[in-house]
Amino acid sequence: MENVSVVVVVLTALLALAVMFLPISRRFNFPYTVMLALVGIIIGFVIHGLGQVEGPRFVGELVDAVKNVGITSGIVFFIFLPALIFESALAIDVRRLIDDLAPILLLAVIGLLISTFVVGYSMSWVSGIAILPCLLLGAIVSATDPVAVVAIFKDLGVPKRLAILVEGESLFNDATAIVLFTILAAMIASGADVDLGGAIMAFVKVFLGGVVVGYLMARALCWLIPRLGDVPLVEVTLTISLAYLSFAIAEHYVHVSGVMAVVSAALVMGSRGRTILSPSTWQGLTETWKNIGFWANSLIFIMVGLIVPTLLAQAGWQELGWLVVLVSVAFVARAVIIFGGLPLLNPFKAAGTVSNSFKTVMLWGGLRGAVSLALALTVLEAPGFEEQIKTFISIMVTGFVLFTLFINAPTMGRLMDMLGLNQLSPVDLAIRNRAMALSLNNIRDALETVGKGQDMRSDVVAEFAGHYSTRLADADKEMQDLEDVSDEQWLSIGLRALMDQERKTCLGQFADGVISSNVTRLHLAVTDNILDAIKARGMDGYRDAVAASLSFPPRFRLALQLQRRFGITGPLTRQLSDRFEVLRAKGSALRRVRESGLSNIASLVGSEVTEQLKQLLDDRIDGIDRAQDAVRLQYPDYARALEELYLARIALRLEEADYKAMLDDSVISHDVFSALSDAMEKRRGAVHQRLELDLGLEPEALVAKVPLFADLGTDRIREIAKLLKPRLIVPDEMVVQKGDAGDAMYFISSGSLRVELETGPLTLGSGSFFGEMALINAAPRVADVAAMGFCQLLRLDSGDFRRLLDSNPVLKETITAIARERAAEGGAATKT
Ligand code: CMP
Repeated sequence: MENVSVVVVVLTALLALAVMFLPISRRFNFPYTVMLALVGIIIGFVIHGLGQVEGPRFVGELVDAVKNVGITSGIVFFIFLPALIFESALAIDVRRLIDDLAPILLLAVIGLLISTFVVGYSMSWVSGIAILPCLLLGAIVSATDPVAVVAIFKDLGVPKRLAILVEGESLFNDATAIVLFTILAAMIASGADVDLGGAIMAFVKVFLGGVVVGYLMARALCWLIPRLGDVPLVEVTLTISLAYLSFAIAEHYVHVSGVMAVVSAALVMGSRGRTILSPSTWQGLTETWKNIGFWANSLIFIMVGLIVPTLLAQAGWQELGWLVVLVSVAFVARAVIIFGGLPLLNPFKAAGTVSNSFKTVMLWGGLRGAVSLALALTVLEAPGFEEQIKTFISIMVTGFVLFTLFINAPTMGRLMDMLGLNQLSPVDLAIRNRAMALSLNNIRDALETVGKGQDMRSDVVAEFAGHYSTRLADADKEMQDLEDVSDEQWLSIGLRALMDQERKTCLGQFADGVISSNVTRLHLAVTDNILDAIKARGMDGYRDAVAASLSFPPRFRLALQLQRRFGITGPLTRQLSDRFEVLRAKGSALRRVRESGLSNIASLVGSEVTEQLKQLLDDRIDGIDRAQDAVRLQYPDYARALEELYLARIALRLEEADYKAMLDDSVISHDVFSALSDAMEKRRGAVHQRLELDLGLEPEALVAKVPLFADLGTDRIREIAKLLKPRLIVPDEMVVQKGDAGDAMYFISSGSLRVELETGPLTLGSGSFFGEMALINAAPRVADVAAMGFCQLLRLDSGDFRRLLDSNPVLKETITAIARERAAEGGAATKT
């Protein structure tokens, strides 16, 4: 028990000590984590020294306790790593990560392997130590450390893409290094030879296996969360369990990479979480993780510092020489990979090119930290290694980590200054200047109004406002010097701002409970696609992406095929109702942006560009309205019910806001508020259910809608219905193509289609039929027939066609007569 209390004292005291260095590190503009490592090392040396001398009992007790809480590899891996990795991966923008996945994987997997081999062989050659332990050292020191890198980058505020590249690399290459380490360590322990093929297979299995475990666990949690009700404490806690469980289950039970499991779990949570959790819960979740990350970071750096003296205990001049070689070789290898390897990706266009200044920061920013030290500790703790190897690895790794922490990290800021990476791009500079000029103008006007309103002395006000006029004039001058931003660029700046507003409006609707998480996700995917397209291809990209956002995506087409081929209607029903809901959400968000958002941007981009933006918005809204009308026409009852549901959701939201305001103004008491909330809770369930869309594809009902069959008895209709296959046709879909062989004819139960005749287009509506001529005449189709909106058709295959007509002389007569008439109009011959 006494022991526990001492451990608690030491841990909390270390944490308290650590956090006190945060303000100091900020004041001196020195990386916090590096400062902690330094403090840790100093304490480590003091303790090391104190251990040798006699002193009061409590000093001995404390010294022992600090030694006992001394870190082991297990503690780093199972306690610190999941939290640290989860926190950094949670904050990564998955879309940007995917954009740069090719360079990241190149560096993290191939780069790491190359670096391991280069370092391994050089060190073996220099030191005369066997190759396997040297390769092991190579694997340990080749992994850049996410913890150290992310911490430094946060301090420095680096450009987004650069941060993604380096953070992404360090998250993934940890996994690579740990896997490689495990394979090499097993080889050393068993005395086996290097089995390259086996090692590669094991690597792929462990790496991908980790991804799968993390992905599945996170998806399971995403499925579970909405079913638990909106209780933030539960949701946030479950993500903490997710981080630790995914790591432990992957490592311990499935024997795959725990790091990859945590990375993929965090990426899934990071991308899905926003549309599953309420915005306030999401905020709470990120705050909690920030805290956890901060504590873990503070403790790990100081604790890592503590063990440095032990690790370096036997270092001598020879080791120092080797260390110089190690650092040089490792950085040269990294430079070759970054400067030589990355350009190899350019021809594939898998990602944008990486500039030389970015590459330089990537080279210098490859810090090593806790993960490398923990791997070195694993070697120290393992029974299978010789003492000489243990000492060699622990000294080399510690020396290298210290080098990157004390030489690279503190100089990163200066390097970025030198490369000009802290400066804004010309476009951002122009935006900044315009924004500043606008604000100065507003302030000057406001000062004059305030001065007048409060009866201040006009000369004081004028003089004070004069300062702003001078600043404004300066800003104007600078703007003229710089203003080389074209109208096209302003348009794309404005468009991006509008898309961003659309995103925010969408998230706002989700927060208000007006749209479901599924609709939010689909809508956000559309805005993200359009944004990406603007970034990549400017206005052309925008137009293509907008058009694509209204077309039917592959998953919709898949659902159509499932219905057509196997009669499975579930997916199609869902796709269609999703489409309608997303269209509605987009329409309402865009209208709101047009009403309120546009004016905010207007002052920045100028009136001419604003006019163009308004036109673009109007065009998008028109397109959405048309697509929405097509669904509405086919499913009016559903559309109406959905609109009512939305109104009910908005009403509920307003009601809730009213009660909240009354509570805040003390108009009603807490008790009354709770009673009102309870009553609302019951209604909330009703308005948040999913509205079922009835595709209306029951054959008998559709047959009854076709007048040709209307006079037949119910038995006959049932019989005919068995031959006819219901089909939902989407707008502009071509059902029959001119020149094709005829394999079926179609009856129109609802909707309209256009027959493209040479004499001009002709519309066929409900109750009519088409595609009969090719069957009767055994000739190619005479015209294209395409849907004008959604249509419900009944398809009659050619074999069944004969059977049906033979048993129905009247029907046969009607159809052939009409076909003959059509042939006369269209000029094609008809056999009888
Ligand atoms: P088919 O030739 O199988 O494919 C094209 C279809 O267009 C044709 O059958 C008819 O069903 C339809 N079609 C051709 N000409 C006319 C017309 N004049 N009026 C209405 N429909 C026609």
